[in-house]
Amino acid sequence: ESSTEIDISSIQPGQAIKAVWRKQPVFIRNLTPVEIAEADKVPVDSLRDPQTLGERTKEGKKNWLITMGVCTHLGCVPLGAGEGETRGEFGGYFCPCHGSVYDTAARIRKGPAPKNLEVPEYSFNSDTVVKIG
Ligand code: FES
Repeated sequence: ESSTEIDISSIQPGQAIKAVWRKQPVFIRNLTPVEIAEADKVPVDSLRDPQTLGERTKEGKKNWLITMGVCTHLGCVPLGAGEGETRGEFGGYFCPCHGSVYDTAARIRKGPAPKNLEVPEYSFNSDTVVKIG
């Protein structure tokens, strides 16, 4: 099982789910227009790991933010994909282990993690099915 296919048709804007790929959690998030705008307005040079939302998503599908659910500090699973509003002060994900805070592009904004949540290799089989790996 080097790849896995996930039906994303029921993920509403503002929702995120956890999938599993290679025994690790993957977050699949349908960003709202407000969340996209929040990510886009951040000056990229101000970021610890400078990347735009556009670089972290696929062309024409900027609302689909697909990342590993593995904190880049010491590997805990951040909150924010299925735990209601526990998304931290930048509206993305929050790692409860040592307080790393990620934004709506899953970029590291605060706390000890050195890198953004990793974007795995993936592709869209259709508008409703994504293949991770
Ligand atoms: Fe996430 Fe340390 S493992 S902050």
